[in-house]
Amino acid sequence: MKFQKFAIFSILALFLLPILITPNEATTIVPNQNSIQNRLIKCLTNHSNDSYPISPLIYAPENTAFSTVLQSYIRNLRFNTTTTSKPLLIITATHVSHIQGAILCAKEHGIEMKVRSGGHDYEGLSYISIVPFFVVDMFNFRSVDVNIEEETAWVDAGAILGEVFYGIANKSSTHAYPAGVCPTVGAGGHITGGGYGNLMRKYGLTSDNLVDAKVVDVQGRVLDRASMGEDLFWAIRGGGASSYCVILSYKIKLVKVPEKVTVFRVLRTLDQNLTDVVEQYQRVAPNLDHNAFIRLTLGVTNSTKTGLLTNQATFRCLFLGDTQTLVSLVHENFPLLGLQKSDCHEMSWLESVLFYSDFANGTPLETLLNRQPSSLTSLKRKSDYLKNPIPRNGLEVLWKIMVELRTPQLTFNPYGGRMAEIRADTTPFPHRAGNMFKLQYATNWNEGENERSNYYIDLTRKLHAYMTPFVSKNPREAFLNYRDIDLGINHQGPKSYVEGKRYGMMYFKDNFDRLVKVKTMVDPNNFFRNEQSIPILPH
Ligand SMILES: Cc1cc2nc3c(=O)[nH]c(=O)nc-3n(C[C@H](O)[C@H](O)[C@H](O)COP(=O)(O)OP(=O)(O)OC[C@H]3O[C@@H](n4cnc5c(N)ncnc54)[C@H](O)[C@@H]3O)c2cc1C
Ligand SMILES: *[C@@H]1O[C@H](CO)[C@@H](O)[C@H](O)[C@H]1NC(C)=O
Ligand SMILES: *[C@@H]1O[C@H](CO)[C@@H](O)[C@H](O)[C@H]1NC(C)=O
Ligand SMILES: *[C@@H]1O[C@H](CO)[C@@H](O)[C@H](O)[C@H]1NC(C)=O
Ligand SMILES: *[C@@H]1O[C@H](CO)[C@@H](O)[C@H](O)[C@H]1NC(C)=O
Ligand SMILES: *[C@@H]1O[C@H](CO)[C@@H](O)[C@H](O)[C@H]1NC(C)=O
Ligand SMILES: *[C@@H]1O[C@H](CO)[C@@H](O)[C@H](O)[C@H]1NC(C)=O
Repeated sequence: MKFQKFAIFSILALFLLPILITPNEATTIVPNQNSIQNRLIKCLTNHSNDSYPISPLIYAPENTAFSTVLQSYIRNLRFNTTTTSKPLLIITATHVSHIQGAILCAKEHGIEMKVRSGGHDYEGLSYISIVPFFVVDMFNFRSVDVNIEEETAWVDAGAILGEVFYGIANKSSTHAYPAGVCPTVGAGGHITGGGYGNLMRKYGLTSDNLVDAKVVDVQGRVLDRASMGEDLFWAIRGGGASSYCVILSYKIKLVKVPEKVTVFRVLRTLDQNLTDVVEQYQRVAPNLDHNAFIRLTLGVTNSTKTGLLTNQATFRCLFLGDTQTLVSLVHENFPLLGLQKSDCHEMSWLESVLFYSDFANGTPLETLLNRQPSSLTSLKRKSDYLKNPIPRNGLEVLWKIMVELRTPQLTFNPYGGRMAEIRADTTPFPHRAGNMFKLQYATNWNEGENERSNYYIDLTRKLHAYMTPFVSKNPREAFLNYRDIDLGINHQGPKSYVEGKRYGMMYFKDNFDRLVKVKTMVDPNNFFRNEQSIPILPH
């Protein structure tokens, strides 16, 4: 009810506002003194510390720069349309006092506050909402402070993974951090969402390698691991901080990698005995030496022979060792891949990050510092967990369905190794032993085709539906960082716990109830909320 009133009020307020275009960024006073924006701005400036003025950091839709600021971290162009919901304000915080002020004013005015770091949320939940909201943008918090003696680093929430990787490699050629392979992903959402990358089988998740964090809680207090306590620290290691607090920075544990690693990218099409190869891959990849991570992406391509669409498999490997060892390992365990020595390339771990993201050979390492991705599309993602191999006849039908659907791709991320050694309740991330693969369904389309978004989303759902008999059930497990609104939305009303339990069980399984307990303890009034947040216990 409260939200509906705000929705109507703010829509009216927007219509009543005369368009005021200010020459510079700052939003100060607009004629309608009573608009929700103005009341928020007044509150924010009133609580601003004179040493760190907040006014120049506030962007309202009336500002010319508002769209640029909003769009600069939209990473799913499906949400770059005029009809996409827009924040009432964006605060590009530069100091902790701005975040404290934002929390205080959001509480005072009953407005939802969202935090955006890298903006890679697949459903845009850091910058869109079904209710009126404003955004605290963290991109100014981007320092990466590496301590090689201690094998740790303090990483600000707004740093991108490329900056983290580059910063580590800048200090040591034998240290790394097990995180996602896409360099523009933000540390802020990635680490707390349980992130993973191609060091997962050796070292576990990004969140498994988190040792401390600085956060701002609902009362505006700045806390670290010692002062927040182990319950909250447990929750933010995979449970999603957006339900609990604002992350300022993370202290991460660095891991060791060899001076040279080996990578390969090998393509196979349907006419190259694909069913046999994938059948063997499924049995082998989760059981290989922990130093080997071989990801498989299935898609379609035009056959060079017939010109017709056919299936294609791409095998991408990161191996923490040399070519010779990798080739013998693959020949012994996965002979059907037909790996050649010439497929393998030795390089530094940092170079392998670029290779794995399909950058051309010789791309400068500084490319990792680019905050703007080299290309952007509209997209839909879904996830699944595979506990048994897909049988041969299942693969054969899969080939036909993928050719029929054309656009969606299906990626297999092998588990096992370190992932199977960590208990399912050590962190909120529950998908450990017993899982062979995490699957990702991925459909991309051009921004120009946004009016057909539902068509592409539906293709993704169809592929996901076909996989039902082969994947985990009761619950059908899903990965929080692969945010998927299809799993349910929380309307934050009287049914909030029940609604939350639906997606919560898929993301967290038996850890869901502990997440709810911690939530009820640290944020009893459910201030930190969003469409898929952790609910509080029903009264
Ligand atoms: C191109 C691409 C590649 C990807 N590759 C991988 C991968 O290899 N491995 C993997 O695990 N995931 C991957 N992801 C998913 C990614 O890890 C998640 O989307 C992650 O949450 C993104 O973090 P962000 O800060 O960029 O996103 P945002 O959209 O800024 O935030 C995501 C969520 O976290 C919350 N949040 C962000 N910052 C804070 C903060 N400081 N305090 C509290 N809450 C915060 C937001 O409110 C939102 O709910 C990929 C996504 C994309 C688009
Ligand atoms: C400004 O803040 C003070 C407390 O810090 C409060 O008493 C006062 O009501 C606030 N004024 C406005 C306009 O928000
Ligand atoms: C403002 O910031 C300065 C410098 O950090 C600090 O000394 C002071 O106490 C702050 N003032 C308020 C009112 O918080
Ligand atoms: C988002 O949309 C705006 C307005 O149509 C456009 O100018 C901008 O280029 C788009 N952003 C991207 C990254 O395509
Ligand atoms: C470290 O970074 C600095 C600044 O970007 C650069 O000049 C230097 O070459 C880097 N050193 C290494 C070893 O990467
Ligand atoms: C496919 O399998 C057949 C029979 O096992 C074999 O003779 C042939 O060489 C294989 N083709 C490829 C491209 O591996
Ligand atoms: C296959 O070829 C058609 C026609 O030339 C083209 O439109 C399509 O994009 C191609 N598909 C792929 C996956 O390359």
